[in-house]
Amino acid sequence: MDNKNISLIWLICGPSSAGKSTFIQSEKCKEITNLPENTPTIMAHTFQSNQVLNPKTILHYNMLQSETLWEKMIGIFSQNGSKKTEFDFEKIPSWTSIKRARADIKAVVLVCSRDTLLKRIKKRKFVEVKGLKKQKLYPKAKWIKMISSVNLELLYQQWCEELKLNGIPFTLVNTETDTYKMIENESEMLNVIKQEKTKYSKAKIKEILKRKVFEYQRIELPYGFYTKGADRSDTRDTIFPDSLDGKSLLDIGCALGYMCFEAEKLGAKKVVGYDLKKKRFEGANILKDIKGSNVEFHLGDIFTETIEEQFDIVLFLNVIHHLPEPVSALRKLSHLAREKLIIEFPTINDIKFKKTVSSFERSWDEFPFIGVSEINTAKQTFVFTPKAIERILMNHDKLFRKIDFLDSPMDDRKIAICHK
Ligand SMILES: C[S@@+](CC[C@H](N)C(=O)[O-])C[C@H]1O[C@@H](n2cnc3c(N)ncnc32)[C@H](O)[C@@H]1O
Repeated sequence: MDNKNISLIWLICGPSSAGKSTFIQSEKCKEITNLPENTPTIMAHTFQSNQVLNPKTILHYNMLQSETLWEKMIGIFSQNGSKKTEFDFEKIPSWTSIKRARADIKAVVLVCSRDTLLKRIKKRKFVEVKGLKKQKLYPKAKWIKMISSVNLELLYQQWCEELKLNGIPFTLVNTETDTYKMIENESEMLNVIKQEKTKYSKAKIKEILKRKVFEYQRIELPYGFYTKGADRSDTRDTIFPDSLDGKSLLDIGCALGYMCFEAEKLGAKKVVGYDLKKKRFEGANILKDIKGSNVEFHLGDIFTETIEEQFDIVLFLNVIHHLPEPVSALRKLSHLAREKLIIEFPTINDIKFKKTVSSFERSWDEFPFIGVSEINTAKQTFVFTPKAIERILMNHDKLFRKIDFLDSPMDDRKIAICHK
């Protein structure tokens, strides 16, 4: 091939808020690329393979691309990593166009941790696009959701593989700070991504987990540790389909605080959890300190606590069947919810309840029934059909505009999303 007319593209890549625009203007960028000042920058999504290129061009490339494309390419990960899927960069039209362009391509991969990305995203107001008369609002909520649920390590690893596969040489740069340290290799890159902001050492967390039993919920801790307990990520994904940017949230019966921590990660600005059990309250506070979280935990009983403030979202997950006065709790919490009350509850089909009645074969969910359990054998008080919940909250009182019932990931349970 005649190389004389071939242009050179410098791909500056990273996920949203990795610092691409700032890096492009830095001395470090000049030093690495040797490009002169005012080298034209193209945003990747506008790139066409047949476009006439300058001899030298900078391409601003977001590895996660837009919301619609991300569904096709992303590997959502669950807390235990079981839902890992591959990233398929081939599905991104701008990437296939770039590869088809008649140009030599070199890349700089900007690397930073999830914490840093989220902090920057939360502070951002506008999209940086040159030449626009009116500044375009940065879709903060979308990016919080994407960055908090994507498997960032896998994304970077597979992106490096993709570059190698296409014979694109690349340099790794740490953009945690504007000192832009060079990263020697991919294992060092993974350390930057995994970088933990906790004041606890790895050994200290290990020692706490050995000494204390945090049963009930599987909670993510720094350095890849988890507490023992049930994976509640499926319920999290059902009740929080979007980012919670700027929302306030109250979690009644929060146990060790799993949903509180996840809500905070999704951008909630104020998160408060209540639980009756001292051991769980203490455990939640230890985990909060390890994680460096701002969630407020209270030791308290929903029936005796005076909660003055309203919250955008109130969670009442898997608590109702333990209460002596569930209907009064439902009413109280309905008044505390500004936008939504979310209830997860066992129905009359619940296996424990069924054991307390004989010849109970069919599903009664379409009837407004409350089942009264045997407290000693089932260790629960009442179970409700969705219809019963609906009658209490919409017919006896008009406490909500509408209620959506979803299947809970837990057997024979439902989730009620009650909208104000
Ligand atoms: C089955 S757990 C559910 C925990 C969490 N919501 C979840 O779904 O993973 C019920 C929690 O509610 C708490 N609880 C029970 N009665 C309560 C009350 N009256 N006030 C506050 N918390 C209560 C219990 O201590 C327990 O941690």
